Amino acid sequence: MREFDASAYGRNIADVYDATVEDLPTGPAVERLYELAEGGAVLEFGIGTGRLALPLAARGLTVAGIDGSAEMVEVLRGKPGGDLIPVEVGDFTATRVEGEFALVVLAINTIFALPSQDAQVACFRNAAAHLRPGGRFVVEAWIPDLGAFRDRSSLRLLSLTEDVALAEAARLFPADQMMQTTKIRMTSGGVRLLPANHRYAWPGELDLMARLAGMEREHRWSDWSAAAFTDDSRAHVSVYRR
Ligand SMILES: C[S@@+](CC[C@H](N)C(=O)[O-])C[C@H]1O[C@@H](n2cnc3c(N)ncnc32)[C@H](O)[C@@H]1O
Repeated sequence: MREFDASAYGRNIADVYDATVEDLPTGPAVERLYELAEGGAVLEFGIGTGRLALPLAARGLTVAGIDGSAEMVEVLRGKPGGDLIPVEVGDFTATRVEGEFALVVLAINTIFALPSQDAQVACFRNAAAHLRPGGRFVVEAWIPDLGAFRDRSSLRLLSLTEDVALAEAARLFPADQMMQTTKIRMTSGGVRLLPANHRYAWPGELDLMARLAGMEREHRWSDWSAAAFTDDSRAHVSVYRR
């Protein structure tokens, strides 16, 4: 696998990113984050094109962001209100933003975009360093489903409309907890490959990272609507408190 570059994912996907996340439950996520912020300032790690940040700011919260990709931030800047959100371009394992926050958010499995356990621990520590005492770090991630792989590889259809077919090819490297994935976006204009590698971790490992960073888990839900986390949950929204 290639060396880690925090700007690579966004550089490759920025122009079509919004179309790939159209089906995500953004409304419930914004509602939950708004409640958890309790009126305080929000910092989003991997703010991207502002899917969550813009509606949170529109509801009156102070919002800032960090993102590795100038291209993603440019898309954010082109949206109404996007130029009012301060964003640092850099790696969220180490980049610091001025101020103290009530909530730090890291959505859609982006914790797994970091290439190693060390980098993920650094991310938890950087989140804690931005939080006021009692502030919250919210992580959304999937549960690794190794049973979905045959011979350590998988190819699955993610979505299908008359205009766009989105599939994902993935390969598993269990010894390193790594998954190499490429989304394949097929339209009448051609085929786009959207690579994203993951260093996956089970929820319990993330809980330990939080402890190393001086935080304790307050909630774990299976989605943004606060549905119970169960044996069958395929994803989690975890809330850690400093
Ligand atoms: C899947 S997108 C999520 C965007 C947005 N949070 C959302 O919910 O739609 C992940 C974002 O994280 C950024 N990113 C990935 N790794 C990063 C890193 N190490 N440091 C900073 N940004 C990173 C990418 O550039 C991208 O904008």
